Amino acid sequence: MQPVELAPKVHWVGALDPQIRIFDVIMHAPRGTTYNAYLIQGEEKTALVDLSKPAFQQNLIDNVSRIVDPAEIDYLVLNHTEPDHSGCLDCFLKEATRAKVVCSKNAKRFVEALVNHDVCPMLMEGDDEIDLGGRKLRFVSAPFLHWPDTMFTYLEPDGILLPCDFLGAHYCDDRLFNDLVADYSREFKYYFDVIMRPFKPYVLQALDKIAGLDLKMIGPSHGPILREDIGSYIDKYRAWASVPVRGDEKHLVVFYASSYGNTAQMAEGIALGAQEAGMKASLLDLSAVDAGQVVDQIEAADAIAVGSLTINGDAVKPVWDLLSSLATLNLRGKIAAAFGSYAWSGEAPKLIGQRLADLKMKLIGDPLRVNFTPTAEDLTTCRELGRQIAEAVKAGH
Ligand code: FEO
Repeated sequence: MQPVELAPKVHWVGALDPQIRIFDVIMHAPRGTTYNAYLIQGEEKTALVDLSKPAFQQNLIDNVSRIVDPAEIDYLVLNHTEPDHSGCLDCFLKEATRAKVVCSKNAKRFVEALVNHDVCPMLMEGDDEIDLGGRKLRFVSAPFLHWPDTMFTYLEPDGILLPCDFLGAHYCDDRLFNDLVADYSREFKYYFDVIMRPFKPYVLQALDKIAGLDLKMIGPSHGPILREDIGSYIDKYRAWASVPVRGDEKHLVVFYASSYGNTAQMAEGIALGAQEAGMKASLLDLSAVDAGQVVDQIEAADAIAVGSLTINGDAVKPVWDLLSSLATLNLRGKIAAAFGSYAWSGEAPKLIGQRLADLKMKLIGDPLRVNFTPTAEDLTTCRELGRQIAEAVKAGH
């Protein structure tokens, strides 16, 4: 796709990738993605903000060349050094022979490791500026959105913010602008959940930093460029980054998967024990929900318990789906427990407990195992575990 003008002498020169379906191994991209790059010409200097992955480097060179000779570019701004935006740096430097690399201080070591030689970058800190003549690039430090190196570039006086992955989405549409493309709110939320969610405090910090800027347009590095109703996208980020909103009542959520009702009985016993100790407790059957839909509940809960039957020496897939979705949450210190009924070997509770411990959660007791049908004594042990969970939460452990 050819360059698109955003403002006089400000062009999108990126690439469309409609075919990609899995991004960075872990993300689904059912509607493809884009690698947005922006060429900005001042009266004296020219800058290119964000590059592309190596597979699209020729596309970038071609698009830039339709507007200027790459050799005339003065600055290559790397808002973030993940290779989908910076992977073609070394190649592009062979074309942009006089360009200085511009990045954050935190990005320096990543840039060196990316190209395996020193490109002597200009290191920007928050509020540093580069004057292009008639317009300026102003830099906003935005660490951990979603790498330590991330910064935003703000173009004055145009009021265009280029925040790299922030406010982006894996969504490909050659109409490019948010007021022209179809509704992509699902992809926008999914991108936040997978990429920004682990860094909620930094999201809020960055939103505060850009709150005073005159924002006429926002050009993220993936997906549509925002030029209409920009505030609603920012409001969504603020709302998503502000949860969980915890009530006054302490809350345990007991997740379980159960074939014949035995692990379910254990779950009920644990919930009952917590309730008897004065804690709200909810049960959630993982065979009936999508693990991705319960992460808000996990964040909001004061404690979780996770139970699975054992099949072929392992916990079952819905349980592992839940456990793998926890990687994007900050669960350090949250109270947790593992349990499950089994027939032969009963590895699942131990494996679950290990995963919860690896996530830095505070495990209460040893993983609780029951052979086949829980006896009255087993159910008393489950209630006792629920009571211990409630007491640990009350004690603030
Ligand atoms: Fe789109 Fe973090 O790179």
